[in-house]
Amino acid sequence: MKLTYTGKTKDVYELENGHYLLKFKDDVTGENGVFDPGANTVGLSIEGAGKAGLRLTAFFFETLKEKEIPTHYIDSNIEEGTMTVKPAEVFGKGLEVICRYRAVGSFLRRYGMYAEEGQELDAFVEVTLKDDDRQDPPISEDALDMLGILSKDEYSVLKDLTKKIGNVVKEELAKKEIELYDIKFEFGRVGDNKEIVLIDEISGGNMRAYKNGEYIEPLQLEKLMLQQ
Ligand SMILES: Nc1ncnc2c1ncn2[C@@H]1O[C@H](COP(=O)(O)OP(=O)(O)OP(=O)(O)O)[C@@H](O)[C@H]1O
Ligand SMILES: [Mg+2]
Repeated sequence: MKLTYTGKTKDVYELENGHYLLKFKDDVTGENGVFDPGANTVGLSIEGAGKAGLRLTAFFFETLKEKEIPTHYIDSNIEEGTMTVKPAEVFGKGLEVICRYRAVGSFLRRYGMYAEEGQELDAFVEVTLKDDDRQDPPISEDALDMLGILSKDEYSVLKDLTKKIGNVVKEELAKKEIELYDIKFEFGRVGDNKEIVLIDEISGGNMRAYKNGEYIEPLQLEKLMLQQ
């Protein structure tokens, strides 16, 4: 087993059979000790956060598998805090794909002249570059194609999958009277035919979820979603 990448919230190992092993850590993104899913720095460490993130991630990836939506997921080991996945090639140096149901966060910061806080959005999809030094700038379909990061055909697959997966998560949350405001995904190309699939994780750290108008922290979200 070879450590290939040390991320902010996970470590990535390459297994002898070619699969990847993602090890979920207790570090979460934020600033000055306050959790923020949009932040690019590790803000704090919370005991149990890694396993909670993995449990929720495994739950959503299993749900997507039942619905035959393609992902990198193979299996998970909650005790060990690890998930086995198919290795993917990311687009360029990595993209984040956001699906928005209400105007908050960076959407509101950018478009506040036209959008009201909390305004409903119809599964609005936008793509940002994973580029910490440039604060993850948004990028258009045309620019992605022009810069050779993602073809127009791939963009259309990506956008379609993003809405589908966003809606699956939204519906699962709604079963517990929780409302999804926005969620961030990563995709990659897998296998010889370079199929576009969902990669990385789906946990509280990647979404904004609210109950009765109140924001739910990632650990709390995992409890509300997975307790019987
Ligand atoms: N199936 C996969 N194949 C290849 N890379 C993957 C796969 N799933 C997730 N990754 C990558 O593994 C890393 C996971 O680490 P982590 O989430 O901690 O990264 P990070 O510190 O958030 O960094 P980044 O800003 O790159 O996300 C990410 O870079 C993610 O793109
Ligand atoms: Mg990450």
